[in-house]
Amino acid sequence: MHEVKEVGAAELIYEGNSYKYPVIEGSEGERSIRMGSLRADTKLISYDPGYGNTASCISDITFIDGEKGILRHRGYPIDELANNCTFIEVAYLLVHGHLPNQNQLTYFSRLLNRHSLIHEDMRNFFKNYPDHAHPMAILSAMMVSLSSFYPELNVGEGEEMDLTVARLLAKIRTLAALSYKQSEGHPHVYPSSKMTYVENFLNMMFYTPVANYELDPVTVRALNKLLILHADHEQNCSTSAVRLVGSSGANLYASIAAGICALWGPLHGGANQAVIEMLDQIRREGLTIDACIERSKDKDDPFRLMGFGHRVYKSYDPRAKIAKQACEDVLNKLGIKDELLDIAIQLEDRALNDDYFVSRKLYPNVDFYTGITLRAMGIPTNMFTVIFAIGRAPGWIAHWLEQRDDPDQRIGRPRQVYTGPQERKIIPIENRD
Ligand code: ACO
Repeated sequence: MHEVKEVGAAELIYEGNSYKYPVIEGSEGERSIRMGSLRADTKLISYDPGYGNTASCISDITFIDGEKGILRHRGYPIDELANNCTFIEVAYLLVHGHLPNQNQLTYFSRLLNRHSLIHEDMRNFFKNYPDHAHPMAILSAMMVSLSSFYPELNVGEGEEMDLTVARLLAKIRTLAALSYKQSEGHPHVYPSSKMTYVENFLNMMFYTPVANYELDPVTVRALNKLLILHADHEQNCSTSAVRLVGSSGANLYASIAAGICALWGPLHGGANQAVIEMLDQIRREGLTIDACIERSKDKDDPFRLMGFGHRVYKSYDPRAKIAKQACEDVLNKLGIKDELLDIAIQLEDRALNDDYFVSRKLYPNVDFYTGITLRAMGIPTNMFTVIFAIGRAPGWIAHWLEQRDDPDQRIGRPRQVYTGPQERKIIPIENRD
């Protein structure tokens, strides 16, 4: 793992001295300056808010070329994975580095089924959340609670690793569905060994003792695809959170709980919920597309075009292309007409022809169309980010494992440029202003 070549050196001239740092190159030709000794050499540190220019690790998992709109997991293009694989095959690929053969898939699927129940005592926790608690709040707390039910957790290698990975993937899906049932005040539904991963999730969400739930293959296929689109995205905010927490030696469940919290924010995974709320607001209040575009460009107005823009993609997000197509397919096949899709298409069209968006290279991201598809499947808006979390779980696990095995990794601990007061004396309280 971690094949990097040294392809030259970058020179820094500072206060008349010259310092040379090796330039390293990854397998797709992207270059980086290895500058771990910068502070020791020069007493300088780099200032890079949001880490837009900082590689925190060397990774074999996912490649993105944001200029060309390329996304590949372990070398496989995202559209090929989305069109030819199940979510569980992609999860296996991310964690193991290769697609499973039939025997490996059967073994992994059996493990997922066997470990999909949660401890009965844990089910009692759900009862103490208030009605309508956000399912992301419940999911994150439940995820970290798993470490108290499986304190023997030791990810290990081989079968031991398979077991922990399957346990986590199976249980995050069960916890997610139970979070929803709890937020609705409905009885919990147990997972079934007769169903696939995605079927089980839908059944646990929608089956009730008074209304049978018929699984629709269109919905199952579409959800598989959406989960694949979310499965990994290299060093995004939530994955970086997982790595940062994991770098302290925290266990896998605690690290993934941190990822769930990071994902919740509206600038990250929470954008899928924010997009639908924005589209719905436009519909309800009869706002014009032009007015929304103008508001999103106004720096004095907090309104942003949710589901637009990306730190890395400076061309069309390849996941958004697939998500848009999947959205149109699902709505057609289910015979649903959703006014929000029309509004989204008009917004996209208008934005992509507006100089503000063109000059800043702002395109729809993965969240722009996924919410409309989830809505068509009957999934409530407050579950959108939870579904993103189920999808992202294999990526988080793969990165946690990669970091654990990387001899270059140290505890994550950035520095800062301090601008507070210099040393001063404490004034006795009676003399303070
Ligand atoms: N609407 C209007 N203007 C935008 C938008 C938007 N959605 N996104 C970026 N801009 C503008 C910024 O105001 C900035 O303009 P300026 O150069 O005049 O100051 C410029 O485009 C660059 O944007 P930044 O915020 O600097 O880009 P950054 O990389 O820091 O942020 C982010 C990326 C958070 C995704 C941003 O584009 C955004 O807020 N988008 C909306 C939220 C969203 O959809 N998030 C989901 C991202 S995908 C994911 O996490 C799964």
